[in-house]
Amino acid sequence: MITAIYPGSFDPITNGHLDIIQRSSRIFEKVVVTVMENPRKQAMFTLQERLEMLQVTTAGLANVEVDCYRGLLIDYVKQKKATVIVKGLRAISDFEFEFQMALINRKLDKDVETMFMMTSSRHSYLSSSIVKEVASFGGDVESLVPGCVYKKIVQKYKEGTI
Ligand code: PNS
Repeated sequence: MITAIYPGSFDPITNGHLDIIQRSSRIFEKVVVTVMENPRKQAMFTLQERLEMLQVTTAGLANVEVDCYRGLLIDYVKQKKATVIVKGLRAISDFEFEFQMALINRKLDKDVETMFMMTSSRHSYLSSSIVKEVASFGGDVESLVPGCVYKKIVQKYKEGTI
């Protein structure tokens, strides 16, 4: 049984992330979507909010689990007895950073494989940062994120909590 970890900030999950989750859940027996906590990065959504949005969004996928971790990804992978890290690749611009990450993770544990999944072309421009940028100027992001995330973004702006 191959367990794959799909790590990220997921601040918030976008339709591009969801596409990678759905496709990887068809390949691996188990996929753990893990919110990696980064205390040095200011997030729009709390860890709890990000976990809830992921849980709601992936509720229909029986072999997908949602979790969080603070620390080195490779330590988490070993802790979960996983052997694969799944990453989405959108464009050449993603490649350099992801290549570096994959190499350092392999250096830290040669038995863990990083597997890249090309984004679906309809999501190739999409990122959490772009969603936040558009939303911050009042642009419509409904078609870019799952329904529960859209509601949460609207609610946050209404309450003035961001
Ligand atoms: O969604 P993001 O922000 O692009 O995700 C990046 C993430 C969280 C996957 C990456 O920064 C990560 O793996 N962080 C955990 C710390 C770690 O193991 N870094 C790599 C070795 S230095």
